[in-house]
Order: sequence, then structure tokens, then C-alpha cells
Amino acid sequence: MAPIFTPLHPVIGAACSGIDIAEPLTPAAVAAIDAGMDKYAVLVFRQGAPLTTEQQRTFTAYFGEAEAPYTQIQAAGGVRIADPGVADISNLGPDGSILDRDDRKRLSGLGNRLWHSDSSYKHIPARYSLLSAHVLPPEDGDTQFADMRAAYDMLDTKTKTAIEDLVCEHSRIFSKGALGIPFTDAELRAFEPVMQRLVRTHRTTRRKSLFLSSHAGRIVGWPPPEAQILLRELTEHATQREFVYTHRWQVGDLVVWDNRTTMHRARPYEDGIYPRDLRRTTVTDGVPTV
Ligand code: OGA
Ligand code: MN
Repeated sequence: MAPIFTPLHPVIGAACSGIDIAEPLTPAAVAAIDAGMDKYAVLVFRQGAPLTTEQQRTFTAYFGEAEAPYTQIQAAGGVRIADPGVADISNLGPDGSILDRDDRKRLSGLGNRLWHSDSSYKHIPARYSLLSAHVLPPEDGDTQFADMRAAYDMLDTKTKTAIEDLVCEHSRIFSKGALGIPFTDAELRAFEPVMQRLVRTHRTTRRKSLFLSSHAGRIVGWPPPEAQILLRELTEHATQREFVYTHRWQVGDLVVWDNRTTMHRARPYEDGIYPRDLRRTTVTDGVPTV
């Protein structure tokens, strides 16, 4: 069967139905989903039950090469999900209990509440992220997605011209570091900033988009305060309600987003009381932006 897309918002996001993503996909179905991603930037696959890790990895592999695993900040008790290709987006320790308020993994996870694009702090950033919902709190904990193509389109011509060729420095120092999450010396050395273009052109659609992220902290050749002001102003512009789809999760949902053309952020919930367990796989974009 061919996938069916039902828009969820005027500019960004669609529900994708009509295919079973737990089963092997035909090349035509994969091409249709890719085309849906190019059009909507965020796709929601609503299923009765979450994919197993194996099924999620198999589905992910249709869309590119999985990102090389990177060292995540661990909970005091150690790692909960052994597979290094799966990011543990939860408030849980290895024994399934809720993390302490000052656990480093919890504090690091709070960085997801800032608008960002996954892995923009890597020299080769991410293409798609795929996030599946296993356990959810009874209320709150939505995820929001902002359309960086629509945001770019709505800039005035003067701004578009001024930012066309700018290059930004991205690092977790500018995001998690600015939140006051303490880093070890080894982490600080590993968090050397990488360069990313501020305006990207999508390889297939040729649409331009803003490549913003909480990880962006400087603009090459600019005085730091001026860069901060511009980045904050653009982020404010790009995350206005008209560009934002808010996803209210159901267990079993798999949401796929294009990190090249969107930003996202987690919304708060009572994370000291309720478990929230989501699992992410990520596909690399394969080429640097600069
Ligand atoms: C992520 C992320 C947001 C959320 O998985 O990359 O930012 O709502 N998640 O958990
Ligand atoms: Mn993220």
C-alpha cells in the first residue's frame, strides 16, 4: 500500500498512514516517505504499539546511514539502553527508576527543552531523527517542531541578503553549557565548535531554510554580542506560533523529523513523578554544510 499523508498544521507536519512500518518496505514506499519528508518536514506514524529497537533500526536504515554513536552523558547508575545506536530520551536510570533531580543525565536532558537541531554541533550534522514513544506521562511533555523553511521565507529581503553567506559556530558549550550543566575537562575538549552555514538549501527541493539551533553561539568574523543578538532575534522570529506544530504523544507514535529544515524542543512535564521513555535513532546527512 502507498503511504497517505494528512497535514497536521498549515506549514509543517503530516500524519502518515496506510503502511506498516514494522514490516519491510518496498523501494516505492521508502521513496514516498522521503517525498513526504521533503514536503512536510515532520511525519507522524501513529501505531498501536512501539517498534522494537530492531524494527526501529531497520526502518531507520531505509533513510540513510545511522549516525556514529557518540558518548551521551550517563546517569549515575550507568546506561539503560545498551545499544549505542539508540539514544535514551528518558528520565530513567538503568533500573527503570526516575532519575534524581541533580543526576547529570537529567540535567543534560534538560538541554532538549531549548530549540535545537539534533547534532548541529557535529561537523557532519544529522538528516532525520526518529523518535518512538514507549512510556508517557499522563499529561504534558509534548514536543514542538518549528519550520525553518517557512521562517526563512518570511524574512524581509534585507535580512535574507545580510545572512545569506554567514557561517555559525555550533557546540554543546553554547547550549547545555549556557544552561550551567557542568562539563568535565575531557568533555570541554571534545566540544570544540564546528562550522555550519546559517542558510541552507535543501538538496532535492532547493528550498532555503534557516539552520538555527541552541548549539549555535557565534558567527564567524562577528563580534560575539552582535552574533548573539542576531541568533536570538532569528530564533524568536523562527519559533513564532505560525511556524510551530506541537506534537501530543501517544504510546507507539514514531515521529520522524528533518533536522536540516526544522528545529524542535521538548516541553516540560512532571519528570520527578512520571516516567517518560522515548527512544531515538538518527541518520547522518553525510556531508558538511560548509
Ligand atoms: C530528541 C529531542 C524532545 C523530546 O529526542 O532529540 O530533542 O520531547 N526530544 O523528548
Ligand atoms: Mn533533539
